[in-house]
Amino acid sequence: MSRIRIEGLSKTFGHARRGSTAAVDSVSLDIDHGEFLVLLGPSGCGKSTLLRMIAGLLPPSEGRILLDDRDITHVAPKDRDLAMVFQSYALYPHLTVARNLGFPLRTRGWSRTRIDGKVREVAALLGLEELLKRRPKELSGGQRQRVALGRALVRDPGAFLMDEPLSNLDAKLRTATRTELAALHQQLGSTFLYVTHDQVEAMTMASRIAVLNNGRLEQAGTPSEVYDTPESVFVAGFMGSPPMNLIDARLESRGDRLRVTARDLEVPLEHPAGDLPPRDVVLGVRPEHLALVSEHTRGPLFRGVVDAIENLGNEEVALCSVGDTKLAARGPRPLGLQPGEPVAFTTLPEHTHLFDPTTGRRLVWRPHPDAVRHVALDAQAV
Ligand SMILES: Nc1ncnc2c1ncn2[C@@H]1O[C@H](COP(=O)(O)OP(=O)(O)O)[C@@H](O)[C@H]1O
Ligand SMILES: [Mg+2]
Repeated sequence: MSRIRIEGLSKTFGHARRGSTAAVDSVSLDIDHGEFLVLLGPSGCGKSTLLRMIAGLLPPSEGRILLDDRDITHVAPKDRDLAMVFQSYALYPHLTVARNLGFPLRTRGWSRTRIDGKVREVAALLGLEELLKRRPKELSGGQRQRVALGRALVRDPGAFLMDEPLSNLDAKLRTATRTELAALHQQLGSTFLYVTHDQVEAMTMASRIAVLNNGRLEQAGTPSEVYDTPESVFVAGFMGSPPMNLIDARLESRGDRLRVTARDLEVPLEHPAGDLPPRDVVLGVRPEHLALVSEHTRGPLFRGVVDAIENLGNEEVALCSVGDTKLAARGPRPLGLQPGEPVAFTTLPEHTHLFDPTTGRRLVWRPHPDAVRHVALDAQAV
């Protein structure tokens, strides 16, 4: 079990003079003993580049990497005590499963008996005992993936680095393997650093998620923190399916209360206006936090029209237009809505998120001490 500390790590490809941008830009991150940290972000955001620098396969342009307080920034990959599992399994096609598993130990000069013992131990752990004599082409995708994982396991590394290891598996197998990996992590208690673009993988397996965008770290937190309290518009719009609704709005006082208003939208914040000057904000509401109400309901509401209904099986998503704004609402099926119908939604103040439109950063909310349902707004950008 190891701790990995990344300090101001950057990687720029090509020549800075020709206007190349950093694939990884000043990322600092602590990955604790036994954590399952998932690096999450869209394709091209720098996840693999970051992981390859940690593995020692790519020299950083700037910054340091520490493994248990030892500076390993310039240490050769084989001396880092880390094991990498790639998306492509990279198994030796001409070797049996047993020999593939034992390969890293042979290169370390272990005796045959010792290798056999270790291979058996790992094969038992991963349910590969029956397959030891087969060659990779005689295995299913899931089994190959397990052999690749086993080849990392035999080395007893301080930490495992995994780059989208499930992306070559079909949907059903991916779900099953997710559960297996989480269980394996529990059993081993090792440090896992896992890269994916799949938010469901991140939400279900991670003890902590680090969200990357354009080479920069947007937020690091537990799955609940990242989902419930996104620190930026990017994270809010990346997590969730469909993601959080994001609406250009204005924060202002009406009477003695604060309100968030936009065209055809109005959310009373039930918070004394105080002396906050009006300002532009981005209002965020998750699709599951838009509650359907009768369009005849009095008071401020989101009023619009249904464009389409998506059937998710257990739930439905209503895609709606409110003026120029597109909103998605999610709820148990059937929602009882038809395309073309007028629709009205309400939401609770505690389910609204506010972001700074310029910086994209979250505006801080704190529970109001007077009442549970009331929220206080601190209009300082974080
Ligand atoms: N060897 C390379 N040379 C030049 N550009 C690269 C190289 N590797 C990656 N990049 C660029 O760096 C960015 C991040 O890539 P990558 O780390 O592979 O992203 P991800 O794994 O998140 O999809 C991309 O814009 C990619 O084109
Ligand atoms: Mg990648």
